[in-house]
Amino acid sequence: MASTSQTENGRNLPKWGILGAGAMGWLWTYYLQRAKIDTLLLQRQNTSSRECIIQKDKIFENCRTSAMKSDNPSLPTLEALLVATKAYSVRSALLPLQETLIKKQIPIVLLQNGLGVFEEVRELFPEQPILILSTSNGAYWHESAFLKITGIGSSYLGTLDNSAPKSLKNILFKRLEATGLPVVLTDNILKQLWGKLLVNCSINSLSALWLCRNGDLLDNPNSKQIWKRIVHEGVEVMRLELQQEVEPLEILSLIDQVAYKTSANYSSMCEDRRRNRPNEVDYILGYLVRKAHHHDLSVPTLETLAELLKFPANSSLEQTPN
Ligand code: PAF
Repeated sequence: MASTSQTENGRNLPKWGILGAGAMGWLWTYYLQRAKIDTLLLQRQNTSSRECIIQKDKIFENCRTSAMKSDNPSLPTLEALLVATKAYSVRSALLPLQETLIKKQIPIVLLQNGLGVFEEVRELFPEQPILILSTSNGAYWHESAFLKITGIGSSYLGTLDNSAPKSLKNILFKRLEATGLPVVLTDNILKQLWGKLLVNCSINSLSALWLCRNGDLLDNPNSKQIWKRIVHEGVEVMRLELQQEVEPLEILSLIDQVAYKTSANYSSMCEDRRRNRPNEVDYILGYLVRKAHHHDLSVPTLETLAELLKFPANSSLEQTPN
């Protein structure tokens, strides 16, 4: 399966495709390259390489990757395609690649926040191995000039169906583990995704509304009160969806941990607001509210937040913090 374009000491390097040149796309490009994995950025532009400056621990590094237009039919064989676009762009970003990915049976690894993306991708690729990488790393663009890596969280790799054989999961897991980022291979990715969903409901929503860093929420007594309400409502939905007991205190402490580890970060939803871009509310709070309605549960806090996070198109921000 490995591509043969790049070699080191006569050894072929495995090649991963990256779809989406946002903060998470570049963060993983940078770490995969450190693990001696060749990367290929798939993009709308027709350029053969792209680069970006990464700041980590006060050190600046240049990260350069080969690139290719995503509808180019001469896509090389990739060991995996990491999909790092926003949840709402996944479908349209994958469409130009659909035929080639199916023909080559390239495994797809989804990195999005929220839930609901897997089902959309499965519809496009009925037989493809699809894996999920749920991560809580912090990174944001500083004045659009460089990517600042602000916190290393845990990442979980798993599948929501039987499309990926164990051997494939193990290979991809080893590659991700080689990046040095903490990664766990799990048989219960759904539970992780639900935990992360409640983390995103709590951190992303308040940081986007208050335009603050994740860590500022920890010092704010109001956020703790709102998080309790989010978790109280969200856990009821989570219990019914997962058909298992969920401990609210565990989720609250997960939220604290993620906010602490990524305290210098502006969450993705806060960044979307700062840059007047659409956000992922439909896949985060919107998803939770739809599931709650399906179970006839009343979730007033989640509903209100979901409505508040649909910022009007003309609510542009003149001054944005850095
Ligand atoms: O969406 C985000 O920003 C991230 O999922 C996280 C972990 C909340 C860090 O900011």
